[in-house]
Amino acid sequence: MLVVQKLSHSFLNGTESTQVLAGIDFRVERGEIVALLGSSGSGKSTLLNLMAGLMKPTEGSILIAGRPIEKMSENELAVFRRTHIGFIFQSYELIPHLTVRENVELPLVFQGEKAKIRRERANALLTRVGLAGKTELFPSQLSGGQQQRVSIARSLITEPAVVFADEPTGNLDTKTEAEIIDLLIELNVNHGITFVIVTHEHEVARRTKRIIQLRDGRLVESDAESDEDALLHGEVGT
Ligand SMILES: Nc1ncnc2c1ncn2[C@@H]1O[C@H](COP(=O)(O)OP(=O)(O)O)[C@@H](O)[C@H]1O
Ligand SMILES: [Mg+2]
Repeated sequence: MLVVQKLSHSFLNGTESTQVLAGIDFRVERGEIVALLGSSGSGKSTLLNLMAGLMKPTEGSILIAGRPIEKMSENELAVFRRTHIGFIFQSYELIPHLTVRENVELPLVFQGEKAKIRRERANALLTRVGLAGKTELFPSQLSGGQQQRVSIARSLITEPAVVFADEPTGNLDTKTEAEIIDLLIELNVNHGITFVIVTHEHEVARRTKRIIQLRDGRLVESDAESDEDALLHGEVGT
């Protein structure tokens, strides 16, 4: 499904190059929900942005649904992203002058889908995320947790192969955070959505079946059960 091979990335600042990711290898199968855990600055967002095709790696390969995305041209990648990849941002990134329903429909507008089909699919997804009565409101009329639900519905509307979320609960209180994670887990269990969720919160990572841990741009992978011990003993970054 998602295969990351020998992935490395460096940022160039003037003449100085800083390596942020080194030799990352892992795969995520269809229907998995994975937490990508690591302290601030460990390279989580960089890795997520590379996997989502938002930037090109210095070295290595990223296969999504069998396609190496780093080899695609900008145009190919734009189309591939729109159809195969969902993205959930920490700050929701909703368009303020569009209604909740219109925000969710937007990826289908870019695909040239008919208005009636767009509306039906958006309404169905908004019901699924618990916002049936809010479709004609504007984002500013919703709470943070509700806005994140809109952004989750939007990420699913093209039926992507994988959905990436970068600190999706980072702006939310603890109770709302738990509700949003419940929703992502429910979508994974009942609808088979594949999620990779970046977080620096042990509480969030603990909820997923599998944790991939980044430390200083390198991977420390293990399963959730054996991670539990490390988490309880505070051995992972904050
Ligand atoms: N565009 C950039 N140019 C230079 N350095 C960057 C850039 N983006 C991130 N970095 C650096 O890469 C490292 C990892 O950043 P990031 O992937 O955002 O980590 P995380 O999401 O885990 O906090 C940090 O040291 C950060 O300063
Ligand atoms: Mg980050």
